Amino acid sequence: MSKPKVIVTRRWPSKIEEKLSDIFDTTLNLQDEPMSEHELQNALQTADALLPTVSDKITEEVLNVRPIKAKILASYGVGFNHIDLNAAENAGLTVTNTPEVLTDCTADLAMALLLTMARKIGEGERHLRNGDWSGWRPTHMMATRVSGKTLGLIGMGRIARAVAKRAALGFDMNVLFYDPTPPESNVLADIPAFPCSTMREVLSKADFVSIHCPGGKATHHLIDQEAISMMQPHAFLVNTARGDVIDETALVTALINQEIAGAALDVYEYEPKVSNALVSMENVVLLPHLGSATTETREAMGMRVLDNLSNFFSGKEPIDKII
Ligand code: DGY
Repeated sequence: MSKPKVIVTRRWPSKIEEKLSDIFDTTLNLQDEPMSEHELQNALQTADALLPTVSDKITEEVLNVRPIKAKILASYGVGFNHIDLNAAENAGLTVTNTPEVLTDCTADLAMALLLTMARKIGEGERHLRNGDWSGWRPTHMMATRVSGKTLGLIGMGRIARAVAKRAALGFDMNVLFYDPTPPESNVLADIPAFPCSTMREVLSKADFVSIHCPGGKATHHLIDQEAISMMQPHAFLVNTARGDVIDETALVTALINQEIAGAALDVYEYEPKVSNALVSMENVVLLPHLGSATTETREAMGMRVLDNLSNFFSGKEPIDKII
């Protein structure tokens, strides 16, 4: 029997590319350039599986191409707001993602961002590397204490829960959360965090607010001008979830007007474009979407895609089936 043909949209860890090539008739993207809408459509028309990442926009327009040969979109990443699920369903596609394996690394990065921002780690590093450091002095680069402060989580999925554990157990933080559809009480049983009945309560009580909700229409601009105005002036905002959950223009205005103390971002509304205003601010920490970017996690994500594909092509239900 001939091997299923799969098309990979970006470079993946070499170990995974090798495994894919062993098992399937695999087309890799050796140039690692994003594929155009036309190339994505062509892939859907010629391959049995398309393997996109979270930065490929698998829109209704892309998915409306006919005839479609592909039967599965095996996406590399946990978020799936880059895929129009209705259009995928209409095209008869199964869609899978890669949850769980990136939880710890993304939670680690959220804490790293929080600490970097609160303790002026980026600013301090730039200061030293620029040769501006003249020596220790009592008032030099005084920052904000993290231990014992209040952390507010918006969303209480896997990554938020992993952040809650780190913050409460590692930094003695008081952790609050708001989630309109919270996990079952048994899932929350050993999580040292307190539920709030409104987002306002979390935003207004927290010294640090960390965003952990999925992207997409339901959460677009959830953190808008009104929500930011509920935060305390000394509070910091962290986002490792999806850029468009925050209204970036409102955030910039709030930072300029010192309505909040700072922001630490791994994701952006118009990714990979980052507003010049944010880049120019000293009280902002900016990373290029690195939440899951460790060798261990990126390989584990690839293995998860391999498992999903192997199950699918052997007639079994993929473990991470979304639709
Ligand atoms: C995801 O998987 O959704 C992340 O944003 C990239 O790791």
